[in-house]
Parts: sequence; C-alpha cells; structure tokens
Amino acid sequence: MTDLEKAGLRLEYNHDGAVAEIALNRPERRNAQSPALWAGLASLGRELPETVRVVVLKGEGPSFSAGLDVRAFTPEGIPGEGPALPRGIARPELVELIAVYQEGFRWLRDPRFTTIAAVHGHAIGAGFQLALSCDLRIAAEDVRFCMKEPALGLVPDLTGTKPLVDIVGLPRALEICLTARNIGAEEARELGLVERVAKSGELDDAVNELVTSLLAVDAGAARATKALLQQAPANSLDEQCAAERVAQSFRLVP
Ligand code: CAA
Repeated sequence: MTDLEKAGLRLEYNHDGAVAEIALNRPERRNAQSPALWAGLASLGRELPETVRVVVLKGEGPSFSAGLDVRAFTPEGIPGEGPALPRGIARPELVELIAVYQEGFRWLRDPRFTTIAAVHGHAIGAGFQLALSCDLRIAAEDVRFCMKEPALGLVPDLTGTKPLVDIVGLPRALEICLTARNIGAEEARELGLVERVAKSGELDDAVNELVTSLLAVDAGAARATKALLQQAPANSLDEQCAAERVAQSFRLVP
C-alpha cells in the first residue's frame, strides 16, 4: 500500500468497513494535487477491501482542492516530487504519463463503489475534475467550482470533460471551460452539478444522510444498477433493454 500520508491523503473506514472516507489532507496548500496524490488515489482504487461499497472523498481545511500544485510546472517542481512535466519529454511519452495520472480519477467510476464528493470552498481545475469523477456531489453553500485550465493555456485532462458534458450539455460545458468562471452552489445545483447543497457547517451531516440511504439498499443490486445505468447514454433502446434483461437474470438466477 502506498504511503498515503506522503501522498497527502488520509483514509478512514466507517460503517463496519462499508464506507471508505478519503480526505485530501494538505489544508495549508488548499489540498493542491500532485502526481504522488494521484498515484495514492489510484492505489486506493486497486486496494480498497471488498467490504467497501461507498467512497466519500472530501478535503480538509478551507477548500476541497485548489487543483494542481502550481509548483509542478516550475523547473524545481513540487518539493519531494520534481516537475510534473519531465524536461524534454516527447509527446508520446507525455500522453502515456497523463494516462497514468488519469488512473487516480478513473477508478471512482468503478461499479464496485458508489462515490460521493463532499465539496466545499474551492474546487479548481483538477479539484473540479476530481469532484466530477465521483458519482454524486454534495456541496456546501460556500463552494466555488472553476475549470481553470484553459485560462492557464491548458485543457482539462484529468477525466473531467466527459462527466461535465454529460451533466450540463455541450454549450454550457464550453461556456464554463472557456470562461474559467466560478460556479457557486445554487447555480451548481440548478445545473445538476451537485445533488444537494448543505448549509454552512452541515456538509458532513448531509453526506452521512446520503451514505445511510445508500447503505440501506442491497449491495449487489446497487453495483449491478450502477453498471447498468452507466451503459445507458451510449446504448440504443434495444441494447439497453438487452442489458437490463441480462443484469436481471444475474440477480434472479445466481
Ligand atoms: N498549488 C500550490 N499551492 C497552492 C495552491 C495550488 N494550486 N493553491 C493554494 N496554494 C497555497 C498558497 O500558495 C498559499 O500558500 P502560503 O500560505 O505558503 O502562501 C496557501 O495555499 C493558501 O492560499 P491563499 O493564501 O492563496 O488562499 P486564498 O483563500 O486567498 O485563495 C485560492 C485560495 C483561490 C485557491 C488561491 O490560492 C488560488 O487561486 N490558487 C491557485 C489555483 C490554481 O490556479 N490551480 C491550478 C488549476 S489548473 C489544474 O488544476 C489542472 C491542470 O492540470 C493544470
């Protein structure tokens, strides 16, 4: 298992091991992210025990995450990690390196888990994309989402573009990304970016309420239903009906 503390993460199990709470734990840096943090997240995706069926991702301190550690692109890089972009790297190698970084985000879609982002304060760039990687988002009133990458001359590349377009549609996603503006809690709820907005100081309670509801549903049915729903946007009606039949047959005939 990766050294989570070194990666800037903290892991806690609740509800007899059914819930894994993962905290981004560099509050003094507004939970800025780094390749080491992404490697830590990816290792959690591989190594969380079978008992875990709900994952809650949160941020310690005033912000969920201020995105990529801005020291990553300096010649010295992030202390203890070096530059995110090795000097003189060729484009094909960079493409492979980004695939490795994306592993920290992709596993949150795994049907083994229902994943919840508990978001407060800033969720900028990689922070916004991490929240988008989760199945569900609950936000505090003070939340500010911002897809800042285009304003920095970059594209969002940490798996966030698909869920953003799926949730808000192409025109709104374009507007959000190409203006790099802040989105507050009420607008995020109206756009479907968050399922619920919690009053100041009540984010943990709101998340716990959702966790309790999720745990009340049969674990196998929850996993199979998530897998089924994930296929729906890309399937025709015929394909989705067929997928429903097969999934139900596995539920009813062991
Ligand atoms: N990287 C490294 N350190 C960061 C950081 C980041 N992204 N964001 C904040 N910090 C550090 C600050 O340097 C500061 O450290 P010191 O106390 O040592 O000075 C500390 O966290 C607190 O920050 P602020 O004093 O700025 O706090 P604030 O509440 O006034 O503002 C903020 C918070 C709006 C998040 C502001 O810090 C900020 O704009 N940060 C940079 C955000 C950013 O540009 N992120 C990169 C987005 S792009 C991306 O994520 C994806 C990609 O691939 C490029």
